[in-house]
Amino acid sequence: MSDFPLLRGWHFLQIPGPSNTPGRVLRALSKPTLDHRSPEFGILTKNILLRLKKVFKTTGDIIVYPSSGTGAWEAALINLFDPGDKIIGCETGHFAVLWKNLAEKIGLEIEWIEGDWRQGAEAAKIEELLNKDKEHVIKGVMVVHNETSTGITSNIPAIRTALDRSKHPALLLVDVVSSLATTAFAQDDWGVDVAICASQKGFMMPPGLGFNSINAKAVNASKQSKSVHSYWRWDRILEMNETGYYPYTPASGLFFGLDEALTMIEEEGLDNLVARHKRLAAACRAATAKWGLENQCLNPDEYSDSTTALIIPNGYNADELRKYILTYLNMSLGSGLGKLKSKVFRLGHLGDFNELMLMGMLSGVEMGFEKMRIPYQKGGVQAAMDFLTNSADS
Ligand SMILES: Cc1ncc(COP(=O)(O)O)c(C=O)c1O
Repeated sequence: MSDFPLLRGWHFLQIPGPSNTPGRVLRALSKPTLDHRSPEFGILTKNILLRLKKVFKTTGDIIVYPSSGTGAWEAALINLFDPGDKIIGCETGHFAVLWKNLAEKIGLEIEWIEGDWRQGAEAAKIEELLNKDKEHVIKGVMVVHNETSTGITSNIPAIRTALDRSKHPALLLVDVVSSLATTAFAQDDWGVDVAICASQKGFMMPPGLGFNSINAKAVNASKQSKSVHSYWRWDRILEMNETGYYPYTPASGLFFGLDEALTMIEEEGLDNLVARHKRLAAACRAATAKWGLENQCLNPDEYSDSTTALIIPNGYNADELRKYILTYLNMSLGSGLGKLKSKVFRLGHLGDFNELMLMGMLSGVEMGFEKMRIPYQKGGVQAAMDFLTNSADS
């Protein structure tokens, strides 16, 4: 006999990615494998690459790797920089730290702007470093747009302005892994040279595809790079993509799912999609404010529309709360990552997500508080319902 209860009904996947994969996308993923050198695959790829540009809001090129987001981070760095090059990194949370660690392992030198994981990247500090760098030794600035570990969204246009004001030629690299197709993002208008993403969050897909969305400046910089690597090279992939193919066997099965996910994004429209995430995130925060739990994000202007990270009251363990909720209520919540382990739990409200899914998630959390005797103020679920019924539909 198992120690765990047998759970029926739907599993609530409320981690901040991988997000729920809609039935339509699952069905598309189940199509028979395609010859990746066939005319049909070439057409599928070219069509996907064109439509992806609309989501990133760019006229540049999009590289799709069979990789996770971490692979896409590494791909961007090794295409652009050489060992010994200096780049700026901003400590917004766990994912910014992981990206920095990766950059150091491949030999880059990081000018690290420390942070307390409670606010976004600071444009003024980036500007200060760039202004001091008269010789233009700094080659790039890397920023995580939505820090999934803390539920904090950084102001990318303010960072672009910092680069422009300092008249510094450094490339701007932005991780949009949990912001793209959940939160407003406009690569070309915001002057982002490389946007890095993955399939498992806003795209509502399983993990497995990594993206580098690159503008002409980034492509030119990659031509100067002397980093030694082969598989990740943009030039060869761009060349083959012209006709819809890849220099290796692509994750062709996942392309079917991405094609359907893009159709769903197009049907909703990006503006409506962003408004839906904003509204559901605000309803979520109406509940958390009522509960009286502290948001990891200190600045309301930086609240994330895809993730809310909550601090568990002193003396309580966020992992025990999550364990209870998973074991008895069949719901997965995000854990505290890195230094936030056991202190924070995260609510994912992104992707294929609606009002009643939000209400189910909040009810489960409130039941968990009650059962684990965590001090909180009742009425969070009601506050979210009131918010939803009183605010305009997205
Ligand atoms: C903001 C952000 N960047 C990068 C990553 C790393 O992506 P992956 O786990 O797919 O390698 C994640 C993963 O959750 C993330 O949330």
